[in-house]
Amino acid sequence: MMKGKHIILGICGGIAAYKSVYLLRLLVKAGAEVQVVITPAGKEFITPVTLSSLSGKPVISEFFTANTGSWNSHVDLGLWADAMIIAPATASTIGKMANGIADNMLVTTYLSAKCPIFLAPAMDLDMMAHPSTKRNLELLASYGNHIIEPAVGELASHLVGKGRMEEPENIVKAVEAYFSSQCDLKGRSVMITAGPTYERIDPVRFIGNYSSGKMGYAIAEECARRGAEVTLVSGPVSLKCSNPRIRRIDVESAREMLEAADEAFATSDVAIMCAAVADYYVENRATTKIKREKDEIPQIVLKRNPDIAATLGAKKRPWQLLVGFALETDNEAVNAKSKIERKNLDFIVLNSLRDKDACFGTDTNKVTIIAADGAEKPFALKPKSEVARDIVDEVVSRLR
Ligand code: PMT
Repeated sequence: MMKGKHIILGICGGIAAYKSVYLLRLLVKAGAEVQVVITPAGKEFITPVTLSSLSGKPVISEFFTANTGSWNSHVDLGLWADAMIIAPATASTIGKMANGIADNMLVTTYLSAKCPIFLAPAMDLDMMAHPSTKRNLELLASYGNHIIEPAVGELASHLVGKGRMEEPENIVKAVEAYFSSQCDLKGRSVMITAGPTYERIDPVRFIGNYSSGKMGYAIAEECARRGAEVTLVSGPVSLKCSNPRIRRIDVESAREMLEAADEAFATSDVAIMCAAVADYYVENRATTKIKREKDEIPQIVLKRNPDIAATLGAKKRPWQLLVGFALETDNEAVNAKSKIERKNLDFIVLNSLRDKDACFGTDTNKVTIIAADGAEKPFALKPKSEVARDIVDEVVSRLR
C-alpha cells in the first residue's frame, strides 16, 4: 500500500517526537518517500540530522534556507504529497491548524495540502481533556482530517491518562487502511497512450505536435495511485513516472504506438487514449539527410496513419472500457460526439485550444466529459492532476 507513496511527516515539539523516528523508519521500510517537516519546537526534541539520515532528504523547518536564501514552497509540497501525517500533533499545532494560524512551515504546508491528513495527538491528559483541545480536534475532524486517537497510559508527566501518541505501527496501519479504501482500481489493468508521435522525414527531421505528455502522465499516475496496473504507451516526451505500478513503453511513430497499444489492450480492462497521434506518416522518408543545396524542393508524400482508438474500438469486448480525447479548435461538442461513434468509445474527454491555459504543454486543463448518449459534464480549469482525478472517477463509476 505504501510503495511509491509521497508522505509528509509533520513533527511537533513534544516528548513523543522520539517515536516519530520509528514511524519514519516504518514508512521508509514500507516503500514510501517521506519528506519531514518539523516545527521549531520539534527540533528541541529530535535532531534534523537523525531524520534526514533516515528519510534521505533534508528536513524542512523554515520558510527559507538561511545559507542559500532558497524558498521552501509549502504549495509544491502540499501538491506533491499523497498523505500528510502529523505525529506527534501538539495542542499548540492542533489549535493553529484548526484556526488557520500559518506561522510556521508545518501549518502552512497543512493549509496548502490537498491530500488526506492524519493527526496523532500527543499531550498531557489535562491538555487533552481541555475544552479548547476537544473543540479544535472536532473542528479538524469536521474539515475531513483523520484523527488517530491517543492511547491511555503513563505520560511524560508520570500521570496516567489519555494522551499517549498512538504507536507508530498503528499509525502506519491507519494510513494503509485509508489507502486500501481508496484503491478502487485494484486488480484492474489500464492502458494509457500519452504524448505526441513523431513521423520521420529523414534522420534529422520529423512531423510532430506540441503534446508534452503531461495530461496522459497525470492520468497514468492517478490510475496507479488508485491501485491499477498501468501500461503507459508514451510518445517522445521528457517526463518521468514515479509510481512503480506504471510500466512504460516508449514509442516514436503512430504505427509503433498502435502495435504497443494493441498488444496491451488485449489484457486491459480500460484504455484511455490521450496521445496526440499524427494523422499521416511520410511514405517517401529519406534514409539520409535531405540536403538543401539541391535545386528542386523535396516533396513529402503523406500516407494516412492507422487510427489507434478506432482499431481498439472495433475489437472492444463487452467488459472493456475505451475512453478517447478530442482536441478541437471549433464546433467542439459536435466534432467530439462524432468521434465517440466513429471510434466506438464509451466516453470522450473534450478539450479546446480556444480555452486559455488548456491543452498542449500547460499544467492545467479544462475539459468536458461527453457520454455516448450525448450527456455533457463540463469541468472548470484546474491542474492536470485534478483533471485526471475527474476522468478516473468517471471510469470507476462506469466499471461499477
Ligand atoms: O500532452 P499535453 O501537453 O498535456 O496535452 C494534452 C493533449 C492536448 C494532447 C490531450 O489533452 C488531448 O487532447 N489528446 C488528444 C489529442 C488528439 O489527437 O485529439 P484528436 O481529436 O485528434 O483525436 C481523437 C482521439 O483519437 C484521441 O483519443 C486520439 O488519441 C485518438 N487518435 C487520433 C488519431 C489517430 N491516428 N489515432 C488515435 O488513436
